[in-house]
Amino acid sequence: MLANLVARLVQLALDLATAVIRGLLGAPVKAVEHAVQPILFRSAKPHEVIDVRHAVLREGRPRETAIFDGDDAGDTRHWVADRSGLVIGVVSVMRRPAPEPCDAPRPQWQLRGMATLPEYRGQGLGAALLRQTQLDVAEPMWCNARERVVGFYAREGWVATGEPFDIPPIGNHVRMVWRG
Ligand SMILES: CC(C)(COP(=O)(O)OP(=O)(O)OC[C@H]1O[C@@H](n2cnc3c(N)ncnc32)[C@H](O)[C@@H]1OP(=O)(O)O)[C@@H](O)C(=O)NCCC(=O)NCCS
Repeated sequence: MLANLVARLVQLALDLATAVIRGLLGAPVKAVEHAVQPILFRSAKPHEVIDVRHAVLREGRPRETAIFDGDDAGDTRHWVADRSGLVIGVVSVMRRPAPEPCDAPRPQWQLRGMATLPEYRGQGLGAALLRQTQLDVAEPMWCNARERVVGFYAREGWVATGEPFDIPPIGNHVRMVWRG
């Protein structure tokens, strides 16, 4: 009887110790998992880019404003930065000739909807997405760059053309071209 009681107490103590050790080890393991979760750059379906576009590029406006004409076209392409199933960066390219005037040959592909969530900026995601489009499209592209991010595109070989122009209600833009 006493032996049984002692055995149960010992088992209880062992279970408790195991739980404590698991808890102590578990927390750092989770933290490391969080820190090293890989980011996958992949092509995506149109609906996958809308949330980040909306949050970053159309903040405070109706969600429909983040859906662009041509998103569903057969030759439009979308890419995302995907962190364990969560989309944290987006960009799209659609077939649309650069508006005149534009030095020949006129780029036939427009890059649009370039955005990364604020908490993931400055980690190379935007540049990686941009390089992905350059690699996959491999033909000249153009975009209307928000004036304050002209430097971001310029680092990846995009060149500003013409004078800044206003796109209400967003603000000043600069047309930029990438020719590879
Ligand atoms: C522009 C944007 C996509 C950049 O994304 P990001 O993930 O922070 O970009 P990266 O970390 O890959 O930056 C790449 C380089 O560009 C630089 N860069 C980033 N934003 C910049 C800016 N606005 N102007 C100049 N350089 C910039 C970075 O410092 C970095 O330089 P480094 O390689 O020397 O460190 C992101 O800031 C964003 O979503 N901004 C708001 C939406 C927007 O304006 N989109 C563009 C619409 S045209």
